[in-house]
Amino acid sequence: MQLTQLITSISIFSVIMAEPFVIKRSFDYGTSDIIASFKSKSSNTAIQDPPQPDIPLEEPPISTLLPCSVHHPLTNGFYDLTDLSSINTENIVAWSAKGHDYNKNFTLGICSSPLKPNIEVDPNYQSLVKQPSLKLNSSEVGAFYTDEAGDKFSIGDFSSIPVFRGKKLTLTYENGSYCPNGLDRKSTLLSFTCDKEILQKAQVSFVGVLHDCDYFFEVRTVHACPTARQDDNRAVIWIFVFILLAALFVYSSGGFLYKRIILNRRGWRQLPSYGLGNKVSSALNNNVSNSV
Ligand SMILES: *[C@@H]1O[C@H](CO)[C@@H](O)[C@H](O)[C@H]1NC(C)=O
Ligand SMILES: *[C@@H]1O[C@H](CO)[C@@H](O)[C@H](O)[C@H]1NC(C)=O
Ligand SMILES: *[C@@H]1O[C@H](CO)[C@@H](O)[C@H](O)[C@H]1NC(C)=O
Repeated sequence: MQLTQLITSISIFSVIMAEPFVIKRSFDYGTSDIIASFKSKSSNTAIQDPPQPDIPLEEPPISTLLPCSVHHPLTNGFYDLTDLSSINTENIVAWSAKGHDYNKNFTLGICSSPLKPNIEVDPNYQSLVKQPSLKLNSSEVGAFYTDEAGDKFSIGDFSSIPVFRGKKLTLTYENGSYCPNGLDRKSTLLSFTCDKEILQKAQVSFVGVLHDCDYFFEVRTVHACPTARQDDNRAVIWIFVFILLAALFVYSSGGFLYKRIILNRRGWRQLPSYGLGNKVSSALNNNVSNSV
């Protein structure tokens, strides 16, 4: 009878313990996941259509993919650039970089646009090749420069998917204004470097430009240093709780079995703290009887 009670209590215990242990694993955001996230983005737009239950979802849910953050595919370090963006703020966060010999100063957003909506951005038609009409949407522009006349030229639409190229954390902006050849569109490569020393949140430096078309910047920031993910912290706490509970379980069941089998006790007397409680209550009784 009591053995079956023990077994049921053990199984209840393990059911209780198993539930919080469903730790949501995060995925490594290597290139394959980036492709998957693009796919899921395009399928999100199709969600407004009536659901099609016949087609099973092939990719795992990408709900853990936060914009502007990335897991290093090899070290599994977590990198979050969100604090450098306007994603969680109402204000527009813009970074500037001096052009030096390029004679134009740059304004950049990280994972977001440095421009307010509906600001005119020059698409830069200057070639003999007839181009399809192009209208740049300032809410999508990720970085721009201003020329002497005050016109703004886009050097790429922002992206909020950082990519690791080996050890280098990068962000690529594409589809800016037309390049001088009238065919290509200006694009920008941001390379992030972990820097725990600098006082600003980030320091953006213009490194160079190729063919007046492709721009390269270095961003030194503490946000490019790996951090532990919140989920990981929670996992550590759960593991600690589990070890504590396991120790308690071993202590109580060990004492229980010892008293039951070795001391051959039955009922309440097989609880490990029974003897202790007994002593305490008898000591209290003694005190009470002494003082009375
Ligand atoms: C770029 O910024 C520097 C310093 O802020 C300023 O002196 C210079 O005139 C600016 N250049 C342009 C093209 O706006
Ligand atoms: C500009 O882009 C934003 C964000 O993608 C979009 O919501 C808005 O409708 C676009 N505006 C125009 C005029 O296309
Ligand atoms: C850039 O524009 C082209 C043509 O409009 C489009 O096919 C391509 O996907 C765009 N690239 C990005 C990164 O948005």
